[in-house]
Amino acid sequence: MKDYTFAKPESDGEFEALFKMMDAVFGEEDVRSITRRFVEHHPVMNKEHFFMVKKGEKVVAGLLLIPQVWKLGDVELKVAEMGCVGTDPEHRRINLQRVLNNEFDEYAKQHGFDLCALAGIPFFYRQFGYQYAVQLNYSTEIPLDKIPEKETEFRIGDFTDDHIDKADIILRKSQERYLVHSVRSQEIWEMQQKTGTYGADPFQTAGLFHENGFVGYYRYSVDQEKKSIKIKELALDEKISPEDLAGVIVKHASLLGLTTVNTGLSHQDEFSKFLISLGAKTNRPYAWQVKILDLTKFLAQISPVLELRIKNSEFKGVSKELVMNFWKFAIKMEFQDGKMTDIEKVYGEEDRTIGWNPYAFIQLALGYKDRKELEEMYPDFRVRGDVGGLIDVMFPKQPGYIHYCY
Ligand SMILES: CC(C)(COP(=O)(O)OP(=O)(O)OC[C@H]1O[C@@H](n2cnc3c(N)ncnc32)[C@H](O)[C@@H]1OP(=O)(O)O)[C@@H](O)C(=O)NCCC(=O)NCCS
Repeated sequence: MKDYTFAKPESDGEFEALFKMMDAVFGEEDVRSITRRFVEHHPVMNKEHFFMVKKGEKVVAGLLLIPQVWKLGDVELKVAEMGCVGTDPEHRRINLQRVLNNEFDEYAKQHGFDLCALAGIPFFYRQFGYQYAVQLNYSTEIPLDKIPEKETEFRIGDFTDDHIDKADIILRKSQERYLVHSVRSQEIWEMQQKTGTYGADPFQTAGLFHENGFVGYYRYSVDQEKKSIKIKELALDEKISPEDLAGVIVKHASLLGLTTVNTGLSHQDEFSKFLISLGAKTNRPYAWQVKILDLTKFLAQISPVLELRIKNSEFKGVSKELVMNFWKFAIKMEFQDGKMTDIEKVYGEEDRTIGWNPYAFIQLALGYKDRKELEEMYPDFRVRGDVGGLIDVMFPKQPGYIHYCY
């Protein structure tokens, strides 16, 4: 590793060197533009969030930390998303990404992040402690002529910054069905509208209106080759049904000369469900890869969610010590009258009634899998004795979905 140094960009010249590395790694994917957008428009990101390895003046590897907020139920979690990960082809396989990952984790810990997350290539990130844990990249596709025509009193119109407040309320309401979901700030709404970019992709917004005003919106793009309208994000208030929306979209897509509608929405979304009921083709989604930085802190943080679940169950008012043995260490939780009164990390614990592989536990904690599924998958993930029912109450399976916050 001689001659290689870790750095953060200090000048325009160093940013340009970072962009050049992105060009060399990603070619036509234009990751330069994605990165530039963070530099020029992101309300919170600054040079600290750009991690690089240099050899001399040349940047040979890099990644970004995109700060955001996710929620698990009503609890807010500070998330460090890792993005634009790349190493110049001539400098690969000498552990430059290992160096960058260590720096990334250290920064995230020091700055109070709870989770690290990424939407990255398969398998590679497991070595850094990531686990697939929140659904990602859905597709639901149907030809327009399979959707029954419906005359509707709803119409599309311009979406302006004045609609953001109401749109955000509607979006937040629609996110309640997802255990893990994102929180979009006003500044991010404005950045997305201004740059016309959602995640890494361009989009346009159609506002949805009724005679009494604004009732929702959808963000979309057009694929001329596939003659398809792609719905990237959608939020509706209760006045407009999936059938009405379908009527609006069919009209919109037909005017654009398109023949197919494809949504990137969760399969749990009402509109996707409606399309699926009409015979739409669905995909097997990919998943966000997530790492919990400090398990004890995380469990303490989500205690309001755990307590609420207990309160709404047959275990209401439970008083009990729960020992979660993660094999290398254990976490003891004390519950009094259904409230978590103490939590501590211990070593050398003999009680193995609850024996949990900590990587698999990420899937349980984020509602991606339930206890029984994980017990079937991993021999080192098991619950013995009679606590299974309580564990199932504390950690139910529930879909997650992340609306992009950049
Ligand atoms: C994937 C990529 C970032 C790896 O960068 P790198 O600097 O070569 O990675 P490192 O040398 O730090 O590798 C760390 C470890 O992963 C292994 N590794 C490297 N590339 C790998 C890959 N594609 N899949 C699995 N393991 C890989 C290395 O052998 C090393 O393991 P070891 O310490 O046991 O030997 C690089 O190949 C790249 O830029 N690819 C193109 C862009 C890309 O796919 N980016 C990821 C987007 S999510």
